[in-house]
Amino acid sequence: MSTLVRNAPVEHFAWYLAHHPAVSGKADCSVMLGYTAAYQDVATEIEETLTGLAGYRVRSFELDRAPHPTLDDAIHHSDVFVFFYDSSTLPSPQPGGPEFIRKLQPTMTQHWRKSILFKDYGPYFRAAFSIAPQRIDALNSRLIDIAGGATHLAFSNGKGSWLGAPLRSARKWTSVNGKGNFDLVPGEVATHCDDINACVRFTGTFLGTIPFAIKYGVISSPVTIVVEQSRVVRIASDNAALKRDLESYLSAHPSNSTIEELGIGTNEGVRGLYGRNAGFEERHCGLHLGLGGGAKGSHHLDLIFDSGTIQFDERIVFDGEYRI
Ligand SMILES: [Fe+2]
Repeated sequence: MSTLVRNAPVEHFAWYLAHHPAVSGKADCSVMLGYTAAYQDVATEIEETLTGLAGYRVRSFELDRAPHPTLDDAIHHSDVFVFFYDSSTLPSPQPGGPEFIRKLQPTMTQHWRKSILFKDYGPYFRAAFSIAPQRIDALNSRLIDIAGGATHLAFSNGKGSWLGAPLRSARKWTSVNGKGNFDLVPGEVATHCDDINACVRFTGTFLGTIPFAIKYGVISSPVTIVVEQSRVVRIASDNAALKRDLESYLSAHPSNSTIEELGIGTNEGVRGLYGRNAGFEERHCGLHLGLGGGAKGSHHLDLIFDSGTIQFDERIVFDGEYRI
């Protein structure tokens, strides 16, 4: 008698994939699956799972071995392409990623609507997809409901941090629940608010177009960040190099010093921060602030707090775990 081992993360991934804008509604979907050797196991599981479902045809490619024209052609002819590879976490990272990605970039950009990239995930793909989609969706909806009835969001982290955001003027909250999102990894709600004031003692990690996380990892010695009306006006750190790098980031473009995004991660499968500059870390439960990305020419840098308490008016919704 054979034992059926239920592979929940890959099944969840397949569920999200079915809702991706490039896949949803297609009766017959051709999936290009590209991976490097480190990701062979997960790629094989995905291929097996998808081929067991009706409506998928999967073609797999080793990204660092297959000839460039073959990969280029496969992107053109697929309905969606799913890539697993390392970039920022490579021993000698290159600005445009590994060579095979740099060569494919024009085609990938042209077809970005069907692109799903898992970059620098290392062993954490399964963690990022371990939670049932219904749980994440329910948490997101609940948070947005509570935020809708509140006037003020407050954050503190027991390290002398305070942050306040009036919610009346905040933009409509978005729910990143993985259902119908181009970015498949679920677990976040986010808004934009022009009047955030804060003095935070930041510990945690970074995620951005400039890989601060790779250089500085997960910060345990607090960086002081002073925010007035959603603009970072001062930073302090006992790490002189980090302070210098952050200051040059903040001054490089007016949007870079603006908190463009007030985000709350809701993916309970992401149990820690790892400093990999990988997208799933933004889904880590708790607060993150997105600096930049609000104007052409700016960068985007998320500051992801490793801990803290979030409350809407008097109600604590998160203190390391969700209380809703
Ligand atoms: Fe975010």
